[in-house]
Amino acid sequence: MQISTTINGKTYSHDIEPRISLAHYLREILDLTGTHIGCDTSGCGACTVNLNGMAVKSCTLLAVQADGGEITTIEGMADGNTMHPIQEAFKEHHGLQCGFCTPGMVMTAADIIKNNPNPTEEEIRHGLEGNFCRCTGYHNIVKSIQHAAEKLNS
Ligand code: FES
Ligand code: FES
Repeated sequence: MQISTTINGKTYSHDIEPRISLAHYLREILDLTGTHIGCDTSGCGACTVNLNGMAVKSCTLLAVQADGGEITTIEGMADGNTMHPIQEAFKEHHGLQCGFCTPGMVMTAADIIKNNPNPTEEEIRHGLEGNFCRCTGYHNIVKSIQHAAEKLNS
């Protein structure tokens, strides 16, 4: 099946099998391996990307469902060699350890801040309910997102 998408500002067209997930399309066909697959069942959030302005779990979305859509992946967050303020905040506040969950955390953080520019700690924790981290205990992730929101608002 033919699909066409705009990903990180670039247009792609491919003839793909209808059964392929968006996560596999990004990773295996486009080589955008920053989108991670932790569970493949919508549980961990490692595969989170932005589709048409909303954070979605790309492991449980078919690539054909994204046909005609605009997608941002973690590769599209930085501006060349300059990290996105959210990425910068994760670095500054040690919001990651192994980094496996981090692309999904950053994409979810962007969604949280977009919908609520000044989130409270509780609102951030609620917004992260669909994203699992096995390393950090979440505390520094929350701090990173609070700091990123401040930066983006200043
Ligand atoms: S890989 Fe998609 S939610 Fe875990
Ligand atoms: S930093 Fe290792 S899973 Fe989150």
